[in-house]
Amino acid sequence: MLELLAATKNAGKIKELKESLLNLHICFRDLNEFPNVIEVEETGGTFTENAVLKAQSYALQTKLWALADDSGLEVEALGGAPGVFSARYAGENATNEEKIIKLLQELNKTREERNARFVCAIAISDEKGEIRFLANGVCAGKIALTPSGTNGFGYDPIFIPDGFEQTFGELSSKTKQKISHRARAIKKIIRYLRDFIASSLDQTAFRL
Ligand code: IMP
Repeated sequence: MLELLAATKNAGKIKELKESLLNLHICFRDLNEFPNVIEVEETGGTFTENAVLKAQSYALQTKLWALADDSGLEVEALGGAPGVFSARYAGENATNEEKIIKLLQELNKTREERNARFVCAIAISDEKGEIRFLANGVCAGKIALTPSGTNGFGYDPIFIPDGFEQTFGELSSKTKQKISHRARAIKKIIRYLRDFIASSLDQTAFRL
């Protein structure tokens, strides 16, 4: 069975990844099991650069295949902010509530459109730090006037995906799993992982 490190400590992301890849024969590990790993600084200028940095570094540190996701919210009227700074938008240790309040305050200053999109980049590295696969996904929507709902994490209570009237915080996790930026990126990696697992099994059978 392929052992794959979900290179994150974010419980929301770990849950979404595991649920989406449930049918593949993968033994998931996550960063909470490795308290001594050195945290990777997200110094990249794009989601893809940060996903690659994280996948490579955590794979080399744990000697496992690693899947890293870098994601965030881009708000049109804020010139794409918070973007790659989504996790730190209201300071290093700010809560989700504080990030949401800051974003709504900034957006209210502009009195402009509320168009936004979630973006997700995923990188898979082998245990030697070689990037094996890259994928990305986007989910377009609007920023709500006020937060609603307690499902999901991060900016979910203020994001209304296109085609819906409720926020990700109100919609079920099943619905989010179908249309989210992460779900769309994951769909692309499922085929890659399936093929990889099948070819590994073939090779094992051959060796036997
Ligand atoms: P990072 O990818 O760990 O750098 O963090 C990205 C940040 O973007 C998270 O801490 C959340 O604040 C936000 N974010 C990413 N994906 C989602 C999502 O699916 N829902 C809500 N917020 C998200």
